[in-house]
Amino acid sequence: MISQRLARFDRLNLLAAPTALEKLERLSAWAGRDIYVKRDDTTPLAMGGNKLRKLEYLAADALAQGADTLITAGAIQSNHVRQTAAIAARLGLGCIALLENPIGSEDGNYLNNGNRLLLDLFDAKVELVESLDQVDDQLAALAERVRADGKVPYSVPVGGSNALGALGYVRAGLELAEQMTAAGLQGATVVLASGSAGTHAGLLLGLSECLPGTPVVGITVSRSAEAQRPKVQALVQRTAQALEAEVPASVEITLWDDYFAPRYGEPNAGTLAAIRLLASQEGLLLDPVYTGKAMAGLLDGIGKGLFAEGPLVFLHTGGAPALFAYAALDKGPEAAL
Ligand SMILES: Cc1ncc(COP(=O)(O)O)c(C=O)c1O
Repeated sequence: MISQRLARFDRLNLLAAPTALEKLERLSAWAGRDIYVKRDDTTPLAMGGNKLRKLEYLAADALAQGADTLITAGAIQSNHVRQTAAIAARLGLGCIALLENPIGSEDGNYLNNGNRLLLDLFDAKVELVESLDQVDDQLAALAERVRADGKVPYSVPVGGSNALGALGYVRAGLELAEQMTAAGLQGATVVLASGSAGTHAGLLLGLSECLPGTPVVGITVSRSAEAQRPKVQALVQRTAQALEAEVPASVEITLWDDYFAPRYGEPNAGTLAAIRLLASQEGLLLDPVYTGKAMAGLLDGIGKGLFAEGPLVFLHTGGAPALFAYAALDKGPEAAL
């Protein structure tokens, strides 16, 4: 059993209770379809988001290894870096992050507000880099420098997406399966943003134990389905391996890539429309980089009749702090940057 094997891994218990599974009543009426949301945007650290679940395992490993400094990398507006810096503060560890500007924005809000502002509050050290094209080597070089300073670094992968981090979403999948079953949503389709893939891979494995065959649609936020598939596949395999389990035959990777254009970190008109709709219909905040794009895919999928029968469950992975970095959202995608 995956759940029993998962229990063998050390985890910081920062997320003691399940996040809520709620029905979006007004959106459901608007769309003519039952839509639920799993509120991982409300995880209890530093404005929430999906990374806390991964960091519960990664930071436990860092402490077990005697690390005193978490190092990681991401975009200037990375939610992952924000949550890593927050957990470092919570645990009394240092945090150093390599940050890139993937959209070449010179907007002051993008450069200084939103997640970036929070990094300063968490007292993280930041190093701006031209790109993160060689991120593994860049993190290894940073680790070397930290060691030369007499510190003990722990490298948290981009997005927290290695097998250990993905265990957080195996656990989330088990949690969600239990909630879906209790709510009578066994036939539902789950929709989520698929980026560094740990969330997608872990969730597939977690759901497969109690609700095998549950359709899961990953909306890509940074690359084509063709490029994303091997990333999800490899992480499903490595995570199953870490659990000493086979990948269940029911696990199926479905990816939709019509919603991430023009590129990672840059919203399009559909992203902004989805953000506005959820805010105005439900008082629910999505973000311009991940969940706005994933919700745009969900809404378009309903319009085009692409989903199987039954309710939809949207995994809200967080990210709203980035809204403040895209302050010109009102004026459309071009002005948003
Ligand atoms: C708000 C939000 N949603 C979704 C994702 C994607 O999750 P993953 O990188 O595990 O695919 C991220 C990753 O940074 C995120 O910050």
